[in-house]
Amino acid sequence: MERIPVAVLGATGTVGQKFILLLQDHPYFELAELVASERSAGKPYAQACQWKQDSPIPRSLAQRTVKGTDDPLGSPILFSGLDATVAGPIESRYAERGYIVISNSRNHRMDPDVPLVIPEINHEHLDLIHRQNHPGAIITNPNCSTIFLSMALAPIHREFGVEAVNVTTLQAISGAGYPGVPSLDIVGNVIPYIGGEEEKMESETLKILGRLAGDRVEPAPIRISAQCTRVPVVDGHTETLSLKLRSRAGPQDVARVLRQFRSLPQELALPSAPGNPIVLLEDQDRPQPRRDVWLEKGMCTVVGRIRECPVLDIKMVILGHNTVRGAAGAAILNAETLVKKGYLGNGSRLHQAMNQRRLQAVGAP
Ligand SMILES: NC(=O)c1ccc[n+]([C@@H]2O[C@H](COP(=O)([O-])OP(=O)(O)OC[C@H]3O[C@@H](n4cnc5c(N)ncnc54)[C@H](OP(=O)(O)O)[C@@H]3O)[C@@H](O)[C@H]2O)c1
Repeated sequence: MERIPVAVLGATGTVGQKFILLLQDHPYFELAELVASERSAGKPYAQACQWKQDSPIPRSLAQRTVKGTDDPLGSPILFSGLDATVAGPIESRYAERGYIVISNSRNHRMDPDVPLVIPEINHEHLDLIHRQNHPGAIITNPNCSTIFLSMALAPIHREFGVEAVNVTTLQAISGAGYPGVPSLDIVGNVIPYIGGEEEKMESETLKILGRLAGDRVEPAPIRISAQCTRVPVVDGHTETLSLKLRSRAGPQDVARVLRQFRSLPQELALPSAPGNPIVLLEDQDRPQPRRDVWLEKGMCTVVGRIRECPVLDIKMVILGHNTVRGAAGAAILNAETLVKKGYLGNGSRLHQAMNQRRLQAVGAP
């Protein structure tokens, strides 16, 4: 298969850097262009970016000139890790010009015609792109805490019906980007507020677990109450959940459906798909971010401590890597699903849009 050239928008940021690492030697995509703000445009990537990853900047990219969002791009697919304060109109503009935008940002997630996708749960929502009124497309992945909550809820909801959820998050500082939360605020401390996060968890989860009915998604009938905190952990969001179920199920029943859960990305053996989308840990003091966040290369939801809840029905602890499966890895898995499910195939609307972009990139009229 010929690799599709892709660009990363917000390439200098926390999520952008993760995109760069995860797209190295990707079998479907070739990382061709790096895009950031006017502050970075025109500079070599290594100079524009404060690289904060554990492995060095890939050599092939260190001297690559960063582009601005007004520069012409030859890549038909754009992975977006743009700052949410600017992402909305910039992503819309690219879609209007025929680009396929695969976004991490919150701005378009709840638009009725924009799929908010976790391919293990609701890949059929990708059909919403046919409702979009521009030549390109916008596809989003959820907020980093929402993705792990939705992954844990989906198999339980399908089997037993979830009526209500009480969730408290303990979110890592990398979730706030760089430089993020000042050290004097977070070292030895817990901050019991993350702006907009609780609302995102309470609304996005219902869209993801909702049913595609014609040209809209009917939200899942679940009541969710979220409390979000920032804790002094570098990577990995932990969440404690209590669930009220519609039919009777004990901890063993819930553990069984979570353990058995597999879906489309596993069946299609997509390059970024975790073999086990949900990993169950038996030890009573797990999951822990430092020890468990890299299970399945950071692409799974780790679940532990499933037990009876004396107030609701079942409680548990979950964990996931916020910048991998919670951001860049989620977007890449969405793009892989788009490719393998034929949305970019010959004759499709997006195939025509991609060809158009390629012709423009080589200067055809
Ligand atoms: N961090 C996470 O765990 C996480 C998880 C899920 C979703 N997200 C979402 O992903 C997005 C990026 O988050 P982040 O943590 O990577 O943020 P970040 O580290 O602050 O990076 C933001 C990026 O946006 C670029 N940018 C800022 N203003 C711009 C403009 N006017 N035009 C073009 N580019 C501009 C920055 O470029 P310069 O360097 O040139 O300023 C930088 O590349 C946000 O929407 C966030 O909510 C983050």
